Amino acid sequence: MGLIIAANWKMHKTTADTEEFCRAILQDVEKFAGVEVLICPPYTSLPAATNILGGSSLKLGAQDLHWEQEGAFTGEIAGPMLTDLGVEYVIIGHSERRHVIGEDDSRIRAKVKAALECGLKPILCVGETEAQREAGSTNSVIRQQLLSALEGMAAGDMDELVIAYEPVWAIGTGKAAQPGDADAACSFIREVLAKYAGEEMADKVRIQYGGSVKEKNIDSFVELSSIQGALVGGASLEAESFSALIQAARKAV
Ligand code: 13P
Repeated sequence: MGLIIAANWKMHKTTADTEEFCRAILQDVEKFAGVEVLICPPYTSLPAATNILGGSSLKLGAQDLHWEQEGAFTGEIAGPMLTDLGVEYVIIGHSERRHVIGEDDSRIRAKVKAALECGLKPILCVGETEAQREAGSTNSVIRQQLLSALEGMAAGDMDELVIAYEPVWAIGTGKAAQPGDADAACSFIREVLAKYAGEEMADKVRIQYGGSVKEKNIDSFVELSSIQGALVGGASLEAESFSALIQAARKAV
């Protein structure tokens, strides 16, 4: 299974910043061969990104979507508005949405369903807080987040699914998970998926690690057979550092 590496820009970059980044990263695409690379800019930068990246091997993701396809939801963005802009992937249930915005499992489940209905591939984020890890409940938190989000999903849809394991305490802290801990969590995720949909389907799901991933540590994650890529925040904001990270990952597998 090839690697999938996604840049999650969160609430960063204007249109002009986006154009500059996209032009710069395009110079390096040949160095990314074999790695699926996605850029997930803020909604406002999607048109600029699609204009520049369209026709290249780089793909676009959104950072969220609404669970309805249209309607009276002031300030929200629906899946068909994203596909209209050439978006292929969508991040769902990021820890900042779960823990800062207060999104719950039922909303996340509805968003996974909405994404699949309009042909978007979900990147479903799961992960425990520091307190949950210290309490020994990492696996039960992950199982609950996964089973709740996937409830009702047909096993046949699983090959469109990407799971991002992002321990909350590792996000933006510079304190990445130990590779052994990430390995244990990602292996557990695949076990849960296998119980839910069978081993064959579970083996089609790509699992990313996210949380303080950098050029210097990406190799220790992607060399593990349980991990097929990364969801990258801070180190994805500059084209140079993101390109270096992708190239380091490619060398490690
Ligand atoms: P950092 O890479 O900045 O820790 O962010 C990780 C993340 O939240 C990606 O979705």
